[in-house]
Amino acid sequence: MTITHSSPELSPELLSKLDGIELTDPLGFSKVMAPIMAVAHYRDGAWETPRLTGLEPMALWPHTQALHYGQALFEGMKAYRNLGDAVPGASALLFRPFEHARRMNRTALRLGMPELPEQVYVETLERLVSALDKLVPNRQGQSLYLRPTMFGATADLSVVPSTEFCFVVLATPSDAFFTAPISAWIERLFSRAGPGGTGNVKAAGNYAASFAAAAKLGKLGFHQLLWLDAATHTQIEEFTAMNVFVRRGDRLVTPPLSDTILAGVTRDSLLKLGPTLDLDMREEPVLIDEVVDAARSGEDVELFGCGTGAVVAPVELLGDDSGLRLPLPNREVASRLRQYMLDLQHGLIAGPEGWQWPV
Ligand code: COI
Repeated sequence: MTITHSSPELSPELLSKLDGIELTDPLGFSKVMAPIMAVAHYRDGAWETPRLTGLEPMALWPHTQALHYGQALFEGMKAYRNLGDAVPGASALLFRPFEHARRMNRTALRLGMPELPEQVYVETLERLVSALDKLVPNRQGQSLYLRPTMFGATADLSVVPSTEFCFVVLATPSDAFFTAPISAWIERLFSRAGPGGTGNVKAAGNYAASFAAAAKLGKLGFHQLLWLDAATHTQIEEFTAMNVFVRRGDRLVTPPLSDTILAGVTRDSLLKLGPTLDLDMREEPVLIDEVVDAARSGEDVELFGCGTGAVVAPVELLGDDSGLRLPLPNREVASRLRQYMLDLQHGLIAGPEGWQWPV
């Protein structure tokens, strides 16, 4: 793959877009979009070098491929303020950016889109975060959320892959997604993913396909769906936008990666960190009925979600349409893991090589 064109320097005009922007609490999520984004086009078999430009509406033909056939993906990442001295000299830290680059490329290939070189992906994020340093919040748990996106940009209604693509990285200063334990609804009607489908990649359509099922959550007062396997609706797979872990006694179990489970970077990080924190981490199928029965009988059970957005989110209530309303009072391990991850992400403690990426 060849990269063409060189990247223009940050102009004073571009930087002036940041003038007058102050971070005021609450930041929320996606309330304030950073006025600078990164953009690159793929044409004639090559990516141009991503360039920083002002945030502005994009002109797309109504017959742009992504709008009709969903040839679109995204990644979720965060730039955290460096609050410690584990990574000296860095103003902000990205967490395992090359893992995200690799996952984006797996998604791109699955959807018939071209890979972007990992180095280009990471350098683009570095340049964007560096330009937006004043929008990286200073408080632990807050972040500059980054949204790399790629979509098929060819204007053509034929059911074939695009030949032109667009890579965009947006940024938005954000609060922690969840600051209190959440409730989860066991989804027994709809399914998130099927064998051979796109459940293991970050296809935009996976999220659109969850909206009808998730629509009831607000009315019921629940936060996230807990998806089960499509074939039997007996095994836990994922939450709406997070991987899932269950702790029973000393064991922490998450479903093994398959073509219906997203390879979460936080999921992988917890699996790798767990043993260093004396936790017994397993990748095994988890039956929803066993978790419910164990919690009902007073066993020491925890259920939590994990993902880039949520970090680690303990679940305090499980519900379903049979009337189940099951409190889950334990959250010691989830809370400990959440704090550990945030300490790593903010550079307060040292992590494995390459995990805390200085900007
Ligand atoms: C993530 O946690 O990885 C996300 O992409 C969150 C997003 C769906 C809001």
